Amino acid sequence: MTRVFSGIKPSGSVQLGNYLGALQNWVLMQEETDAVYCVVDLHALTVLHDPEELKSSTLSLTQMLMAVGLDPERCILFVQSHVKEHAECAWLMECTAAFGELRRMTQFKDKSTGNDFVSAGLFTYPALQAADILLYDTNQVPVGEDQRQHIELTRDIAIRFNSRFGETFTVPEAVIPSSGARVMDLQHPEKKMSKSEDSPQGTILLLDPPDVIEKKVKRAVTDSDDEVFFDIENKPGVSNLLSILGAATGKTPQEASKGIERYGDLKSATSEAVIELLKPVQEKYFDLADDPAETNRLIAKGAEKAREVASATLSRAQENIGLFKH
Ligand code: TYM
Repeated sequence: MTRVFSGIKPSGSVQLGNYLGALQNWVLMQEETDAVYCVVDLHALTVLHDPEELKSSTLSLTQMLMAVGLDPERCILFVQSHVKEHAECAWLMECTAAFGELRRMTQFKDKSTGNDFVSAGLFTYPALQAADILLYDTNQVPVGEDQRQHIELTRDIAIRFNSRFGETFTVPEAVIPSSGARVMDLQHPEKKMSKSEDSPQGTILLLDPPDVIEKKVKRAVTDSDDEVFFDIENKPGVSNLLSILGAATGKTPQEASKGIERYGDLKSATSEAVIELLKPVQEKYFDLADDPAETNRLIAKGAEKAREVASATLSRAQENIGLFKH
């Protein structure tokens, strides 16, 4: 069976881009594949963070993943730091990745520019991500467009390791949706929507109440010609709304534009679709949030199942790379 792996960082609240770019596919893929999903808390340490906040974000993100439809009976759902093999395998990956490769990662450039403190972990982050993926003999990695470069690097690392040390890792490929792969900020449509607090009005959070969603979409930046068609270069704001509408209703942006003539109609159709999409998610989230003990039980089981797969792969990699076993 096809093995799927993906991860999401517990830093801040989950936003619509995470959902449309990745989580929607995660839910679909758990039905027909052997899917493994991970809350990657070690990745959240690469930037300055508050320890208590990280703990509570890790729990609430896990609950959010179940609220969007992940079912621990159908997939393995766990927290990265609960499976020590990730950190251990990351070292093997760091020693297989080239310095120059890591230096070319655009996310490192974006996240390090202008910061007083840049951790070494932020630089080697893609090696940990490669460990996450390769530990599970992963065939497919459902992600948004911004992760494409990291998956390419993971492939290069796997191929290099296999050719130096013998067949060890499966070479994975990225699965990127046709709508919603790059949801942009509603206020700054040239920038991707992100969890960061820089642009609260441009970011739709999965827990935003309906009136807030409506307001944010109504205020979304468009342009002055009032013509609705998909053209990312010349109409980034309108195209973003069409991508969101398409991804929320299972259509391409071009299909979503059919029958919509004016910006006002585009905005109401988009906010209605998003509100409708998020309503059941929000209801389920608040139910789950009442029972953290049950979440804890489920993720402990998830970690156990994940460890079984990860430890076998790590052992193979250690053996092949030449670590002496007693
Ligand atoms: P993270 O936590 O930033 O994002 C989680 C997922 O959401 C997608 N995404 C978006 N998709 C469309 N439009 C957006 N505006 C948008 N913002 C975020 C991301 O592409 C991602 O799929 N490095 C990863 C986490 C990670 C990982 C992994 C992913 C760690 N190990 C192994 C896959 C496999 C990250 O920071 O994602």
